[in-house]
Amino acid sequence: MAILPYEKIHGSFKGKDIISLDQFTPKDIKILFSHVPKMKDIAKNARPSKILAGKIVVILFYEPSSRTFGSFSTAVKQLGGQTVEILNPQQFSSVAKGETFEDTIRVFEAYSDAIVLRHPSVGSAMEAAKTAKFVPIINAGDGPGEHPTQTLLDMYTIFEIFNRLDNLKIAFVGDLLHYRTFHGQFLGLSKYPGNKFYGISPKGVEMPSKFRNSNYHEVVIDMDDLDKTLASLKPDIISVGRIPKEYITGDAKKYRFQITKKTLKNLSPKSIIMHPLPRVGEILPEVDEDPRAVYLRSQIRNGQYVRMALLALVLGAKIQS
Ligand code: NCD
Repeated sequence: MAILPYEKIHGSFKGKDIISLDQFTPKDIKILFSHVPKMKDIAKNARPSKILAGKIVVILFYEPSSRTFGSFSTAVKQLGGQTVEILNPQQFSSVAKGETFEDTIRVFEAYSDAIVLRHPSVGSAMEAAKTAKFVPIINAGDGPGEHPTQTLLDMYTIFEIFNRLDNLKIAFVGDLLHYRTFHGQFLGLSKYPGNKFYGISPKGVEMPSKFRNSNYHEVVIDMDDLDKTLASLKPDIISVGRIPKEYITGDAKKYRFQITKKTLKNLSPKSIIMHPLPRVGEILPEVDEDPRAVYLRSQIRNGQYVRMALLALVLGAKIQS
């Protein structure tokens, strides 16, 4: 139900497609975050609530997923709604018979109140939003494009720990060219003053120019020097990502790096280490017990709470405080 290019939130979420961080102002983000503690309480103590009773959400995922799929699915159920879950539609839906993407979207919108879509092509969520006439589309990752709900949960995690989203020093570590998590975090945190970004990557996978501004500093290194580089930068947030071999042509192994216990030694005691997961060797398990490692703790759980709040707002549900 898109209004092109996409409708800004401007304080009102109801019925809107969620395609890009570009739709949100800090005020919109504040509204969303104000509902998260309530969602946390529902998930922990008072479930299921009836906030989404009678609502049906289609979760249509063309790409593999664990956390995004699992947290959207539980988010709907925590709020008393129901889901229709289509994983791998290439195999298990009429897509296998040659049905077009547009037809698939039209069919599932006929059965639901919202569609959560993950798809490998950049722009696919926008395409779906143009096609769907009656229900909102929520982008759960469009290839190397954006993954706005991941960004919002990352930002909530940062906000919960630092009690602010401004004047932070953020280091991105990994494949900055292809990894959508970094793109989203840059777009989201660029909305706040005083944030400084350091893009640490090996040569060849630097940040695309559209995710840079005057507060972005490129730090191309031999990844064997990662510990030294982080020790000298002393970031508040070390945002780490997998090398996404599905988007890389050629040998992805040459981009490998490792965060170890040794890396932690020279980081600020107040810093945090984030990763949207899955990890495939870039953070060793020996790091997990360090209190600064939030990826297997609040970052995962916040995914569910933030998605609960977003679904409730987009579906126009009444949230009592
Ligand atoms: C990420 C994604 O899919 O963008 N995972 C996630 O949503 N939790 C990161 C990844 O693909 O590695």
